[in-house]
Amino acid sequence: MATVRAAYDTLVAAGELRPDAAQAAVADRLQALAETLEAPVERPGLFARLRGAASPEPPRGLYIWGGVGRGKSMIMDLFFGHVEVNPKRRVHFNEFMLEIHAAIHAAREASGEDPIPRVAAWVAGRARLLAFDEMQVKDIADAAILSRLFASLFEHGVTVVSTSNRAPVDLYKDGLNRQLFTPFIALIEQKCDVVTLDGPTDYRLERLGGAATWHVPNGPAATAAMSETFFRMTDYPVEDRARVPTETLAVPSGRTLHVPKSLKGVAVFSFARLCRQPLGSADYLAIARHFHTVFLVGIPVMGPENRNEAARFVALIDALYEHKVKLIAAADAAPQGLYPAGDGVFEFERTVSRLMEMQSADYMALGHGESGA
Ligand SMILES: Nc1ncnc2c1ncn2[C@@H]1O[C@H](COP(=O)(O)OP(=O)(O)OP(=O)(O)O)[C@@H](O)[C@H]1O
Ligand SMILES: [Mg+2]
Repeated sequence: MATVRAAYDTLVAAGELRPDAAQAAVADRLQALAETLEAPVERPGLFARLRGAASPEPPRGLYIWGGVGRGKSMIMDLFFGHVEVNPKRRVHFNEFMLEIHAAIHAAREASGEDPIPRVAAWVAGRARLLAFDEMQVKDIADAAILSRLFASLFEHGVTVVSTSNRAPVDLYKDGLNRQLFTPFIALIEQKCDVVTLDGPTDYRLERLGGAATWHVPNGPAATAAMSETFFRMTDYPVEDRARVPTETLAVPSGRTLHVPKSLKGVAVFSFARLCRQPLGSADYLAIARHFHTVFLVGIPVMGPENRNEAARFVALIDALYEHKVKLIAAADAAPQGLYPAGDGVFEFERTVSRLMEMQSADYMALGHGESGA
């Protein structure tokens, strides 16, 4: 039996979380959902199904939305970790959609039939519960298929839980051909309870505690300060600090990127790994979609002979900025001093300006992938 609310209360009692009534209320909702999901399902027998009896309605899911750092992902992960339902899957929404497009492509190659029902059946076969982090829709390709895809997932009895920075009605706001998308909004509202988690505290910002985001120079002091910030942001237990998970991220150039530390959407990279290898914008965008916060260490002062590194650094910062990824960096100079001369110094000025903005409280308070408007 799941104990979502009890797990939440334990963390509060242990001082790991501050008591928050809005979070406790969402924990109660998730607790109720967990109990429904764990109850035995009365599936129609084979004969009933042959007569056309529909699968039972899946339990209504939950769509949790609100401002950044309110604890949406934290509470969803607590639920996901405790709910005893099989199979279950938790995935970042952007990653999921990339996978869906690849599957649709493969299904089209394999047969001329409508690929969406087949893809939905495949997804539903692997998850009775789908938990999406950071649902957001920016892309016409996603917007155009979501309502059919999800209608089919719900027919297969999948329950959806999701976090988002936006209410369902504001998803894909002002997007191209939005009328293709609007049935998805109605569907989500029909199949999920929509709740807000939008208390006054941005806990992520609070955890950052005014910590510096740009450390100069590279060296042991910067490493120690960044390590402290990393662990504060990811709530990692002190006794496990020697073994933080690594990750291997496949990027569009066909390379794989080793992420030396990867935890809860926060990654640590070195400048050498990201800007000394032949990576490009598509690779940087993949990183920017995958992580909400990037720690970048070892940024050097570059000269004319480093024009390739400087150009890649520009592309990297553009991608991070575009997706409102938070950057914590260690460098040998302030942004203005990083690339004083060489090809592309003019373009580099925009990067300097972005790096300054990325250190501001306003930027730090933006949601991952959200526009500031
Ligand atoms: N009640 C709390 N007390 C202390 N820290 C908290 C509390 N709730 C959440 N946090 C911490 O605040 C940070 C941000 O929480 P979380 O990532 O869940 O926010 P979010 O609502 O998902 O934000 P975003 O919209 O940017 O994804 C995490 O490190 C989380 O553990
Ligand atoms: Mg989140």
